[in-house]
Amino acid sequence: MNVHEALIKRYTCRAFKPEPVSPELVKEILEWANRTPSWGNTQPWQIYVAGGEVLESLRQGSLDRFSQGIAGNPDLPVPQDWPEAMKKRYTAVGKERFALLAQELDKDNIVQSILERNYAFYDAPVVIYLCMDKSLTPYSMYDLGAFSQSVMLSASERGLDTAPAIMLVQYPDMIREALGIPDHLAIVLGIALGYGDGGSIYNRLRTSRRPLSEVAGFKGF
Ligand SMILES: Cc1cc2nc3c(=O)[nH]c(=O)nc-3n(C[C@H](O)[C@H](O)[C@H](O)COP(=O)(O)O)c2cc1C
Repeated sequence: MNVHEALIKRYTCRAFKPEPVSPELVKEILEWANRTPSWGNTQPWQIYVAGGEVLESLRQGSLDRFSQGIAGNPDLPVPQDWPEAMKKRYTAVGKERFALLAQELDKDNIVQSILERNYAFYDAPVVIYLCMDKSLTPYSMYDLGAFSQSVMLSASERGLDTAPAIMLVQYPDMIREALGIPDHLAIVLGIALGYGDGGSIYNRLRTSRRPLSEVAGFKGF
């Protein structure tokens, strides 16, 4: 698989098969992603990987907290508003998802089932947590985002699926304790990793993108 194919094949997977992923494979993906460029080669990323019993206990903890109505409290505050154009696209993809799920699910249960999928980490066998020092600037967040895409494309090449998700890090205290993540690191995002269940309605959505003519301007050639 070349990079172009990996870019096209990747999608946010929201239902994984129980099939495990070997630690060697996760290590290989992270070795590749570790080649990501960063400001002055600062490599601000600090990565924690959870699988097996540790992940099961985090998953249960997440579902328990959700069912008890405990509000999520991610280390990085989630945006409360978006510029108009982005708000439109955010709403549009949400509607598209809802319409698709309504083909198989009871409309009244869709929101709840989407939330449960999220809090159950989409049943992924592995979650990769992306962390960085709390004192860092948006430039390091840029580096972490690049690292994240490197992980996802490398996973695609190895036939694995991924879901980058803020919902994987709603209860950072619990994650911090289970994985020994020091307080000075922000747990920025999780990437769920595993083999996607191709038959699941949750994995049927393929999102569109704006035309390049709208995204990029060219002058002088
Ligand atoms: C920083 C970030 C956070 C995200 N958080 C979530 C999440 O909590 N739950 C979810 O279902 N998807 C989440 N997503 C996935 C996006 O909704 C998805 O990438 C977007 O709709 C485009 O779809 P695609 O990844 O299938 O191409 C997140 C993506 C990013 C990059």
